[in-house]
Amino acid sequence: MQDLDENTATDAALAQMQNTPDARLKQIMDAAVRHLHAFAREVDLTPEEWLTGISFLTKVGQACTPIRQEFILLSDILGLSAVVNALHDKKARELGTQSSLLGPFYREGAPELPLGACILETTTAPQITLYGRVTDNDGTPIPGARVQVWQTNEHGLYDLQQHGGEAMDMRGNFRADANGRYHFRTVRPLGYSIPMDGPVGELVQRQNRHGFRPSHIHILISAPGHRELVTALYFGDDPNIDSDTVFGVSASLVVQAKDDPDSPIPGLQAVHYDFRLARAAEGESGRVGADPAALMPAAQ
Ligand code: BEZ
Ligand code: FE
Repeated sequence: MQDLDENTATDAALAQMQNTPDARLKQIMDAAVRHLHAFAREVDLTPEEWLTGISFLTKVGQACTPIRQEFILLSDILGLSAVVNALHDKKARELGTQSSLLGPFYREGAPELPLGACILETTTAPQITLYGRVTDNDGTPIPGARVQVWQTNEHGLYDLQQHGGEAMDMRGNFRADANGRYHFRTVRPLGYSIPMDGPVGELVQRQNRHGFRPSHIHILISAPGHRELVTALYFGDDPNIDSDTVFGVSASLVVQAKDDPDSPIPGLQAVHYDFRLARAAEGESGRVGADPAALMPAAQ
């Protein structure tokens, strides 16, 4: 006959799970139960607080749509996505460009654009050029590497946040040339607040945090035989460069736009950044995040 208290309930739960055939599932659920129970004991969780937590998570789920992933946003503001990214980077077989958050605004199916194209449909803001090379860890160019980019406009809005989120804009997919070179035109994006109108935003406000991300451009680079790189470049003069609400900034990803005689587009300020892809390990997978639509249950 079981006679459980706040400590032995943990042993009982672990014992019931011990025959889990999938070893990795067993390891993850064992640790999750141990840490969750320890957390409840540490804060002496009351039934009301437990229910508040359940209600919060329910609202997070209800806020998810094909263009919004509130659970990923929650992971981001808790720093969990940054931890998973850092762990993923550490497992690479060789050093590549550092990862950063994919974020909730990534979309499959952005327009395929020729090198040099502007990723904005229209803009009155000054254009800048982003250019550089995609290489191996040892500097060998990767011809044909797929470079996906997306960002906010000069007002700090993603396409998904305007006009009902229908039109694709401020995003594009490019192919590096035979020497691994890429270049495209854009505008300097404005830093922006993460979506604050849902349960995650409410939590951020209750924690007295500002909710802003510094100005950045997202980049996702893939090439056969290489580890996919999900990263972003951050503009160093943004006032929130040291207090990103989702912990995505790393010093190696900080850039500035400047006059640059070597830029492929004369007359525009430019950001020069060379990306390095690590070779893929056997059976490697892993991207922290997804197109929100891909995480929604299929329509019945
Ligand atoms: C973004 O950079 O798009 C982003 C990342 C995490 C949370 C919200 C937005
Ligand atoms: Fe972003």
